[in-house]
Amino acid sequence: MAGRAEADNVAMRGGYSLATIGAKHVIDGASELVMDALDAMELAKGKGAFLITDMGTADAGTSLDMMGTAMARVRKAAPGRGIFLIYTDQAGNDYNAIVANVLAESSPLPKIDELYVSMSPIGFYRQIVPAGELDFGFSATAMHWMNGKPCNIPDHVHMTGATGKAREMFTEQGRRDWETILLHRARELKPGGRLVFCNFGIDEEGRYLGNTGGISMFDTFAALWQRFVDEGTITAAEFEEMTLPQYYNTVDEFRAPLEDTSSPVHKAGLRLEHIETRVVKCPFREDFLKHGDAAKFAPAYVPTLRSWTESTFRGALVPGRGAEAAQAITDAYYQAYVDIVCESPEGHAMDYVHSYMTISKQ
Ligand SMILES: C[S@@+](CC[C@H](N)C(=O)[O-])C[C@H]1O[C@@H](n2cnc3c(N)ncnc32)[C@H](O)[C@@H]1O
Repeated sequence: MAGRAEADNVAMRGGYSLATIGAKHVIDGASELVMDALDAMELAKGKGAFLITDMGTADAGTSLDMMGTAMARVRKAAPGRGIFLIYTDQAGNDYNAIVANVLAESSPLPKIDELYVSMSPIGFYRQIVPAGELDFGFSATAMHWMNGKPCNIPDHVHMTGATGKAREMFTEQGRRDWETILLHRARELKPGGRLVFCNFGIDEEGRYLGNTGGISMFDTFAALWQRFVDEGTITAAEFEEMTLPQYYNTVDEFRAPLEDTSSPVHKAGLRLEHIETRVVKCPFREDFLKHGDAAKFAPAYVPTLRSWTESTFRGALVPGRGAEAAQAITDAYYQAYVDIVCESPEGHAMDYVHSYMTISKQ
């Protein structure tokens, strides 16, 4: 069963990949890194099935094209080996949506010989496959979800807006969470195995999701909920409870356990082969720049923000309100966000900021 923290960060339900075309662009952009990493492995010499995980896959829709190309590459390089692809997410994920995407007529996976697909509800904070059995681990836009939140942030909803003790507690748990993720992967991987991660983070210029020079998305979330507190719609305690259990590592924080020779991760044999940051433009903003119609932009844009924040925000409203009232407040909140964007669309964009990494096991 998912615990409270885990249930709260099940970010997407149904239709995920439809609402998040930008996330697909991020993964498509990682294709080359994945192919290079596969090419660097001696696939034909490997023994047994080629085992790959897609961690934090949501409905598998955003990675499907990339995965089809990658699995076709493995099939060609190692015709004698079966391929075992395990889609993994949290216990509360919508696994039926994975089934629908993987078996869809347009899916490339059923066309690949000797490819077997399975699903695992074991999150990346635990070991997912037996020790020494994993050839390749992939994950996109998932590992910023923490292993529970260390504390509530009194005056913001996100660690990027936290200060003082709250920021320190997030930083310390962010460090431990990244180490935990890596240590489990170190145990799973075969020597010579690879990991490719596209993780949300803070880039060298201090940019992060929805904060790339225009209006800060996280500041807008917080200011809008503060308005709901001031108007008496929600309580200050509910606002605090809305803290998103997320941590965005800087590039140095991603590097540290992989490069510090005294770190248990380095001792376990993981090595950073490549890291770069990229900004992938918000597709809704890009459309707006073409059509210039704020009334079209706002209701198209806000659902992508809603898709991954709603469960945390609505979950913070006290149960005593009842489900209908909580839904009404949540609907009013996202409508208010639409109204803000509609009235003044300039600067609103959820540009993605990722660190793309390739990691190998010695
Ligand atoms: C933004 S979606 C990313 C989906 C897909 N990988 C993509 O890039 O489009 C984040 C996913 O991470 C999952 N997630 C959050 N915490 C997780 C954990 N501890 N273990 C596995 N998945 C987790 C969420 O349930 C959600 O499906």
